[in-house]
Amino acid sequence: MAMNSKLILTATALAVLSIIWAFSSTTNILKGPPIKGSQDLLLKAETINLTGAVGPESLAFDPTGEGPYTGVADGRILKWQGPQHGWIDFAVTSSQRKECLHPFAPHMEHICGRPLGLRFDQKNGDLYIADAYLGLQVVGPTGGLATQLVTEVGGAALRFTNDMDIDEHEDVIYFTDTSTIFQRRQFISAVLSEDKTGRLMKYDKSSKEVTVLLRGLAFANGVALSKDRSFVLVAETTSCRIVRFWLQGPNAGKHDIFAELPGFPDNIRRNSKGEFWVALHAKTGLLLKKVISNSRFGKTLLKLPLSFKQLHHFLVGGQAHATAIKLSEDGKILEVFEDIEGKTLRFISEVEEKDGKLWIGSVLMPFIGIYNLN
Ligand SMILES: *[C@@H]1O[C@H](CO)[C@@H](O)[C@H](O)[C@H]1NC(C)=O
Repeated sequence: MAMNSKLILTATALAVLSIIWAFSSTTNILKGPPIKGSQDLLLKAETINLTGAVGPESLAFDPTGEGPYTGVADGRILKWQGPQHGWIDFAVTSSQRKECLHPFAPHMEHICGRPLGLRFDQKNGDLYIADAYLGLQVVGPTGGLATQLVTEVGGAALRFTNDMDIDEHEDVIYFTDTSTIFQRRQFISAVLSEDKTGRLMKYDKSSKEVTVLLRGLAFANGVALSKDRSFVLVAETTSCRIVRFWLQGPNAGKHDIFAELPGFPDNIRRNSKGEFWVALHAKTGLLLKKVISNSRFGKTLLKLPLSFKQLHHFLVGGQAHATAIKLSEDGKILEVFEDIEGKTLRFISEVEEKDGKLWIGSVLMPFIGIYNLN
């Protein structure tokens, strides 16, 4: 880019930011528009506090229905034992945890581990873990230190392992590496610079081979297999959409757009009917539209002296909120549940439907949410 247009872009970015700043005290022009048919219900969710931990990104129940289990920001995987016994330490992904004492310390994540996606193998109770820094891991039903399964692909280390789903019939695991450039603690940079190096991969348990199914994804995130196992979904966070990769049938090996969403999708979880719950990290507001339509604008924003908190504030539309979307088996939006003002829930990362309840995780909250559907 010529020096002149660089300056103009920076000036424009600064002007836009100051206008946003001026307005955000009165009317919030950053905020995403209302979603048609949305119901402001999630504020009624109950919450269960974590103790000394934050960021329960993913929630999973073991084959006996116990849990949920959740990975938190200090690297531990906790298990909920009910109100009597509370949370217990279940597993860790790193053996070097002497200095992992703070609930939130992003600069320690590569040492302490940062477990994101969790899934139980329902046949034997093994817990599979996508650790953002330490790759794909597994731990047995009694927990403890997890074992590494995949840390590199084709000689290059995984950079940002994010989520996974298990095909128990084929003994195969589908998982995502969000970016080959950015790590988890740089996720805002990955979004604003429109990084497109995310991958969907397949791990074969018996041969231990990894195959790349899709590359070039804009922030590859949540993964979910369809009920009939004919396709696997992957959330492309920056593009605000869900991509479907066909595993069986006439389109096997091909992919298409499953759903376009009004915000940034995080994890995807299937319910017993075969529908999918998608948690949005945030809705897409004005600024995001601008970023998405002009990648130079995002890169320019990153160069401004803004803190992580300020950038995040812009990215999420200036107002904490929670949005969960239920999609049909063919990608139609069936329900939109929100906590529009973030009264109870914010920045949710996963919605797991179990026995008439939605169990809700978040990368930032110090608690999990439970919303009763009945
Ligand atoms: C959960 O944590 C919040 C904030 O620290 C606190 O106000 C609330 O009383 C806690 N709830 C329970 C049930 O401990």
